[in-house]
Amino acid sequence: MHLLDVRAGFRLVGAWLLVAASSALLFCAVGVSAQAVRAVPAYTRDSVPSASSRNGMVVSASALASAVGRDVLAAGGNAVDAAIATGFALAVTSPRAGNIGGGGFMLIRFPDGRSTALDFRERAPQGAFPEMFVRQGTYDPDLHHQGHRSVGVPGTVAGLDKAHRLYGNLPWERLVYPAVRLAEDGFELTEGQARSLARLTERARRRGYDATLRAYSRDGAPYLPGEVHRQRDLARTLGRVMLGRSDGFYRGETARLIGEEMRRGGGLITEVDLARYTARERTPIRGFYRGFEVISMPPPSSGGVALVEMLNILEGFDLVSFGHNSSRYLHFLVEAMRRAFRDRARFLADPDVVDVPVQRLTSAQHAFELRSTIHPLRASVSSPNDVIEAPGNGETTHFSIVDRDGMAVAVTYTLEASFGSAITVAGAGFILNNEMGDFNGRPGLTEESGLVGTTPNLARPGQRMLSSMTPTILARNGGLVAVLGTPGGRTIINTVLQLVLNLVDFEMDAETAVAEPRVHHQWLPDVVESEPGLLQGTVTALEEMGHRVVDGGTQGRANIIVVNPAGGQLTGVPDPRNPDAAAAGH
Ligand code: GLY
Repeated sequence: MHLLDVRAGFRLVGAWLLVAASSALLFCAVGVSAQAVRAVPAYTRDSVPSASSRNGMVVSASALASAVGRDVLAAGGNAVDAAIATGFALAVTSPRAGNIGGGGFMLIRFPDGRSTALDFRERAPQGAFPEMFVRQGTYDPDLHHQGHRSVGVPGTVAGLDKAHRLYGNLPWERLVYPAVRLAEDGFELTEGQARSLARLTERARRRGYDATLRAYSRDGAPYLPGEVHRQRDLARTLGRVMLGRSDGFYRGETARLIGEEMRRGGGLITEVDLARYTARERTPIRGFYRGFEVISMPPPSSGGVALVEMLNILEGFDLVSFGHNSSRYLHFLVEAMRRAFRDRARFLADPDVVDVPVQRLTSAQHAFELRSTIHPLRASVSSPNDVIEAPGNGETTHFSIVDRDGMAVAVTYTLEASFGSAITVAGAGFILNNEMGDFNGRPGLTEESGLVGTTPNLARPGQRMLSSMTPTILARNGGLVAVLGTPGGRTIINTVLQLVLNLVDFEMDAETAVAEPRVHHQWLPDVVESEPGLLQGTVTALEEMGHRVVDGGTQGRANIIVVNPAGGQLTGVPDPRNPDAAAAGH
């Protein structure tokens, strides 16, 4: 262990004041830049509002949505039923990421140990083409990430419908109805919800999105905390979904309204694109890490492959002996991240279009080869001549559910940016994603600024854009251990990695595992982003090895469930990084 890391041990015995004071002194003495990582952690296990239960648990980004899912479990629904109801409720109560205008993934582990994955990622419309984000010969980030061309064909309704047809128990109407009621009757806005709607109002005003102003503000004035937010157009759309299932969205009135919205704003999605959308059932990625089975999302997510690749690399090191979040520990973590993110950019994309070498990337041999390129004391260099990755957006949401039989569901779904494109479908009351921004911007365009132009993940008709969403389930000896996931763009994969390491290697309780500060490295840009809470000595030691460490702000908002191996008690842990998140046990 590096001498400067000895203080890391203090954290384990709760001597935070001493550590913070000494770190602050050192911080001033060495005159670190404004971007330097703050030594005091933002969260501790005591700031986590966890809940315990035996019969079922829902943890999501919204207390109302968690309660909707919990009520479905109490009414005899299984975890898939509860996930469907929670997903629709989040589209009402948490519209910055909860959605019917976006897409995502559902990972299911059945009580007998089998697992499956549902892919309802958005798809590019038929009119898409690799150069579609180029204006007058120049790549245009605004075209890529804003406006009607940034919208992918939504997948959420088709995905939840498919999940219900394959694995649901309760009637579909029972699962959609609570969301219809929440939209129709309205609900009191929390401070966080009002604040995020105020930001949306400002953005919609700037871009002239009148339907968004009508749906999410009071005649253009932001709602205040405690005011009731009613969404009558959304209630009617959800009503059509309740009665017509997928057809209530992809055909008829809702499809007509989406098509009109696209034509008005110069978007590419047509009614034919909507009618052709299908969700896919896929085989999960499976890995084994120190005796734990790791089940995660396959492509078109990069999450499962990258997670297993990193775990395979790290299994070759005695991480516990290094000390949690010590410089040595973080060095190996970052080097594993660097290598997995390079592979992500080179190889990963929609498996229906591109041949993705999943077996090779998740093999022990590949991990061995990568591990042997890691110097124990020196940072590797990410070359700009290799693939460059743009930082991902962080607005996605994750919820975890376990039912009384031990069926576990992990759902991560997204609009991409906060409130996606911020475009509300006029007359239909819901926001559309800007997921086309997850395709690479332009063939061959790879710059230090953070653009990537590798071939596999280019916009092509019908292709699903690469994702980082990593809904993940841990099991051991045939028993469920944990349900994990988080929002956070590309940081998602690294947050889930650190949750696994905290639980498996460091045997932390669930609350501590979520509260601990996280780091992120994504090959390029070649920086280690850290949450507040790394000791200054650790940062200095990393810098001496050649790493550049900066304050990355808050990383992720994980909502997890951990099962107590003795007795099966469920602990639902909402991430304190989102004060609106809540666990609801039954
Ligand atoms: N839009 C974030 C992701 O899919 O990774």
